[in-house]
Amino acid sequence: MEPTSIILFGATGDLAKRKIYPALYNLYIEQKLPETFSLIGLGRREWSDEFFQAQVEKSLNEFSRRKPDPERVKSFVQAFRYNVLNISHKEDYIQLLKLVEQREAELGIPSNRLFYLSVGPEFFEPIAENIQSSGLGSTEGWKRLVIEKPFGHDLQSARDLNHKLSEAFTEEEIYRIDHYLGKPMVQRLETLHQSNPIMKALWNNRYISNVQITANETVGVEERASYYDHVGAVRDMFQNHMLQLLMMMAIQLPYNSTTEKVGQKKKHIMESIEPLQKQNVGASVIRGQYAEGFIQGKAVSAYAAEPGVAENTMNDTFIAAKLQIDDFFWRGVPFYIRTGKRMKEKSTRIVIEFKEPSGQSNAAKSNGSKPNLLVIEMSPDQSMTLQLNASDPQNKGEFKPVHIDLAPDREDLAEAYENLIRDALQGDPTFFAHWDEVELSWAWVQPILEAFEENLLPLHLYPAGSYGPVESDEMLAAEGHHWWFDEPSEQFAEDALAAPLAVNSNL
Ligand code: BG6
Repeated sequence: MEPTSIILFGATGDLAKRKIYPALYNLYIEQKLPETFSLIGLGRREWSDEFFQAQVEKSLNEFSRRKPDPERVKSFVQAFRYNVLNISHKEDYIQLLKLVEQREAELGIPSNRLFYLSVGPEFFEPIAENIQSSGLGSTEGWKRLVIEKPFGHDLQSARDLNHKLSEAFTEEEIYRIDHYLGKPMVQRLETLHQSNPIMKALWNNRYISNVQITANETVGVEERASYYDHVGAVRDMFQNHMLQLLMMMAIQLPYNSTTEKVGQKKKHIMESIEPLQKQNVGASVIRGQYAEGFIQGKAVSAYAAEPGVAENTMNDTFIAAKLQIDDFFWRGVPFYIRTGKRMKEKSTRIVIEFKEPSGQSNAAKSNGSKPNLLVIEMSPDQSMTLQLNASDPQNKGEFKPVHIDLAPDREDLAEAYENLIRDALQGDPTFFAHWDEVELSWAWVQPILEAFEENLLPLHLYPAGSYGPVESDEMLAAEGHHWWFDEPSEQFAEDALAAPLAVNSNL
């Protein structure tokens, strides 16, 4: 890996503390960082280098997956410097350039610069522009821009943002983080169907009945109401993480595919998803908002009563949708996606349900046969399991599911941010969201945004601690399916408040 300067905007922020410093430290321990590197942290607060280094150390003690070793931490933070920067002050960037060059000279490293924007999206444009105009971006080595989501608020704003960024960075230099693409099981999914002819042969509508992608969270809106109330589940999770999971699941990759190939295939998937019409969004999209309820026995308030949430809010904290990919491989296979806050449990998973053999299915069912499943758990557990039927000789030959572990060696898995930061440093854009994908995702989601905006479909309230509105279950039931692994609802029915739940009366 080439020696590099990492220039981190938002160095005093939460993401840096929780994810970026621990990821860098773990890469450092595994010798996956350049041997010589400089990190310059930027923020508005007046911090000294020493104070900054102490804060980094503190964040490692709190958030690193590996217990930090004091000696190694000391040498790790040696590379860290801090600089006060006001994002809109052009002269601060000139000052920054001097510091970057000074560190490059001290360390004897070439001007390879990775600009990491761990800041709110409203700052992406001015920062990129100032990097360009100050000369920070005029390097003899390479330069890269790493940015966090959200990339735009809708199709038009995403296009505008991309246009602006492209005045300072080429598409090849822009690394848009979608941390779901860094999750180890998502990365293994790519290898699973590339390298196994058996899987490859099954990866289509001949054998697959339906695909379910779930990202349920128990947390509510936390302290992020001012952001979340303008965004909702559709922008916060669905347009990016969920559609990226769908692309990664559905692509058919030849062995040893290049990054370009992966990009082309993902683009093809997005282009093949049947578009929605604004007036008909309600036929395949369910939106919900959590009402009061219980999470693990603890009473929690309704979304509408959370501090910072607008009165009469119609914001979605849950969305479920059915998507159809109209291509040779997937025609006729429903992809069900759902994500929500304040759900019964934290679980991020993909379930691929295989078709049952025709003809003998009733007889087999009465003998205990279950559909074959491939289950990819991403959080809180990480696993990839194939469920097959075997006959149980101890039980009159009845069927019994057997589970094949397709992802052993799960000890010490790297965190998503480790994978992504390493890739960005290496210049490997495979697991980043490319502009084509981002644009196509916004384009697909746009009718949903408009239908929500214009209240063209009901906002269903669901009790906190449930699996979302019953309408989401009904959407699958109408096609003879059900969400896999949801626990029966008796428990939450007992917990739930007596107040009847209705469709939001603001409609
Ligand atoms: C973020 C969203 O992108 O992903 C959050 O903004 C959400 O609202 C988070 O909680 C979920 O990530 P994970 O990795 O915990 O599933």
